[in-house]
Amino acid sequence: MTVNMKPEVLLQSDASLTGSNTLGFSVVAEHLCQVEQLPQLQAALALAKRSAWPVLLLGGGSNLILSERLPGLVIQLNNRGISCLEQHAGQVIVDVAAGENWHDWVAYSLSQGWFGLENMALIPGTVGAAPIQNIGAYGVELKDCFHSLTAWDRQQQRQVTLYPHECDFGYRHSIFKGVAAGRYVIWTVRFRLSTTPDLKLNYGGIAQYLSDQGIDQPQPLDLFNAVCDIRRSKLPDPAQLGNVGSFFENPRVTLAQYEALKRNFPTLVAFPAGEGRMKLAAGWLIDQAGWKGYCAANVGVYEKQALVLVNHGGGDRRSLLALAAEVQQSVREKFGVMLSIEPRQYPAA
Ligand code: EPU
Repeated sequence: MTVNMKPEVLLQSDASLTGSNTLGFSVVAEHLCQVEQLPQLQAALALAKRSAWPVLLLGGGSNLILSERLPGLVIQLNNRGISCLEQHAGQVIVDVAAGENWHDWVAYSLSQGWFGLENMALIPGTVGAAPIQNIGAYGVELKDCFHSLTAWDRQQQRQVTLYPHECDFGYRHSIFKGVAAGRYVIWTVRFRLSTTPDLKLNYGGIAQYLSDQGIDQPQPLDLFNAVCDIRRSKLPDPAQLGNVGSFFENPRVTLAQYEALKRNFPTLVAFPAGEGRMKLAAGWLIDQAGWKGYCAANVGVYEKQALVLVNHGGGDRRSLLALAAEVQQSVREKFGVMLSIEPRQYPAA
């Protein structure tokens, strides 16, 4: 059923979101609306408030574990547009609409000679979702190229601009999934990019991959292609096999915990995480606990990267979380480390 809510906003009832979540779960939203303009967003939020509906803002659905039926209103952000606001002293500030596809934006930025996003090629999802968990890959995080964002503040009912110091970015973290969860609807993200290349090649695997290809003096496009190739070789394409990328965060432990583990498990993979802490490779822990390639009824652990849980078809939130709990328990028993689930569960558990 489709009813006209405002001249410009269409509200759909019992709408399928099966194609809109990268796990490929069968999901039905009680109400769904697509939003391209700010007034539509305001109208949709006002309706939800009047109706006492919970609201889910949906980007690419690539970091969500959804239940079969979502109560209330799902708002899919479909605003588009990329505009260069400033260019001087070798830098550009570019404003990108939240509804733009992340990877397409990365590719477009390169085509314009705007550099800095190469390492984050092929991350699924939308631009507006990127600040929420401060997406990152191969040694670069969103915060490294972030200038500011514009958002609709649901609390103060006005448009605001937020700068890095207000966002509290950390490893897979920001205020948008922390203290301010649900308050802001990110509308555009502004990036500070460089017009001269400054390649980040330090993350394990990248430099080696380029040298194996016989590329001694890599250009930004070489780095972009390398990241795409490496990701394709170990991360499943959601269009082929449902997944949300890394299912767990890489756990941070104290130096003392790390040293004790390293004595028992000499091949342990870990990276310095600042402030006397180490970040353990959760994929390594899960792999060593024997889960890589494990298949339950409909869900499993990806055969090439144990940090990724997959939907083989017909899986749902319950079966995936049951598998996640088994993985967590076995990693805790073997290594004494608790893994935290990284994607958001909606409705909350
Ligand atoms: N490893 C194993 N077995 C596995 C998986 C990994 O031994 O099954 C080892 C690897 O050999 C490597 C280490 O663990 O030595 C780390 O693996 P990898 O470089 O693949 O990175 P990751 O820590 O598993 C993180 C991000 C990814 C991101 C990559 C590259 C998190 C939670 N995940 O994965 O992000 O693409 O680094 O930067 O931080 C995502 O967030 O969805 C995501 C895919």
